[in-house]
Amino acid sequence: MITVSNKKIGDFAGDILTIMVSPQADGTLSIPDPAVQACLAKAQDAGDFTGKADETLVVYPEKGLACKRLVFVGLGDKEKGREEIRKAGGIIGKKSMELKATSLAVTWYDVDLAMKEIGECLTEGILLGQYSFTKYKTSQDDDRAVFLKKIALFPQVSSAECRKGVVLAEVAAQAGKTARDMANEPGNKWTADDFAVFGRGLSRKFPIKCTVLSQRELSRLKMGGLLAVNQGSENGPKMVVLEYCCARKGADTLLLVGKGLTFDSGGISLKPGAGMEDMKYDMCGGAAVMAAMAAVGEEKPAGINVVAIVPATDNMPGSAAVKPGDIITSYSGKTIEVINTDAEGRLILMDALAYGVKEFKPTAIVDLATLTGAVLVGLGHHYTGLLSNDDALTGKIVAAGERSGEPVWRLPLGAEYTKQLKSEVADLKNIGGKTAGTITAAAFLQEFVGDTPWVHLDIAGTAWGFTEKSYIPKGPSGIGARTLIDLIRNWS
Ligand code: BES
Ligand code: MN
Ligand code: ZN
Repeated sequence: MITVSNKKIGDFAGDILTIMVSPQADGTLSIPDPAVQACLAKAQDAGDFTGKADETLVVYPEKGLACKRLVFVGLGDKEKGREEIRKAGGIIGKKSMELKATSLAVTWYDVDLAMKEIGECLTEGILLGQYSFTKYKTSQDDDRAVFLKKIALFPQVSSAECRKGVVLAEVAAQAGKTARDMANEPGNKWTADDFAVFGRGLSRKFPIKCTVLSQRELSRLKMGGLLAVNQGSENGPKMVVLEYCCARKGADTLLLVGKGLTFDSGGISLKPGAGMEDMKYDMCGGAAVMAAMAAVGEEKPAGINVVAIVPATDNMPGSAAVKPGDIITSYSGKTIEVINTDAEGRLILMDALAYGVKEFKPTAIVDLATLTGAVLVGLGHHYTGLLSNDDALTGKIVAAGERSGEPVWRLPLGAEYTKQLKSEVADLKNIGGKTAGTITAAAFLQEFVGDTPWVHLDIAGTAWGFTEKSYIPKGPSGIGARTLIDLIRNWS
């Protein structure tokens, strides 16, 4: 429960009152509230708190304040943008967990950012910082996370604007956490079926239609890619299709596609054992897309239709598995020579993309996939790789990523790269050789989107182990969900 309050901070009687502090030009810290200033002055004299970014100080107030603890959080003396406020929020969220607090109030002075954005980014940071995944821990001595039940922001002015930002942030942060939760589920607990169950759940709660294509329909539709990748598995494949149609006639339709590979062993082209457990995260694209649809259901945007498709399966080396050298036929009719069964993401995505283009004639497509190890070589854990056939759509997503604290970096496409995918015996082969692995993977996908403006986001480097930040936990980051939500909110 998050409220925006006009009351006096001195009367707040909860677990933690947080004051976000920016040092003045001369390095001094000044807070208008005398009781708070008194608590700060001693710490400052002792040199224990200077207000620089990331710094925190816990004080137990003696008089004039009703709260149990005062926590000062430094904002630094540089200009504050959305990300700085979000990070401060993350520190507050984490500190609250450390102190097992259930009630929190936050106030700040002289932050030169629109009040709506302060409310939004602060709330996002706090909520995203308050995350842990303890579902499978049964031991009582495990340090169980205690989460905040009540959060109050004290903006002192423009509380209506602040409130607007809070509302946006609650939806976006929840989506980020939902995506993390799905990703944290291991391969034996989150299968293609679970994507279907989640999708059907959205259709019960929101004006969203859910269609689940199972083995039989996929065979009838000749989805040769998804079926081939699934061949070695005991769990059936699913293609989950979600449709949100706003009331407005003639509105744009945005198609989202997410790789829902619930465990990637590599198949017959088996991966090495070390680190293979991380391949449970190979469904993070699907998770981001599903979580974003939950937000769409909550917000019901008036000016845009959103369709989401998640092709879901695991990639296993069973005796019936697809083999190197096999030739398969995609939904589009194009034939593919499978050189490496570990390049499976593009095989399930090609069917989802071609199906989405044919069925929904979207205005634009965004796909998210943990597609290549090569993107980690190029960009590390700090940028999502972006590849696109459209500059305008690229611009929108670069801006959405920037606003969301999820930066993207564009890589080129072109005929030279597409040529690397030529096969002697089929229309395409599924790998493009040793060089430019991220680009040739995207070039492969490009073959299935036609002329539709399309952006591919390779999140293999950012879906887990993303840049260390206060509001990003170790493990899965939930990347993509908030960027998509921002994109949809700012579409027109
Ligand atoms: N899911 C992986 C990509 C991946 C690798 C994600 C490492 C995160 C970390 C994908 O299915 C894959 O195996 N790609 C291969 C492609 C290669 C066989 C052309 C890769 O990147 O090694
Ligand atoms: Mn693979
Ligand atoms: Zn994969």
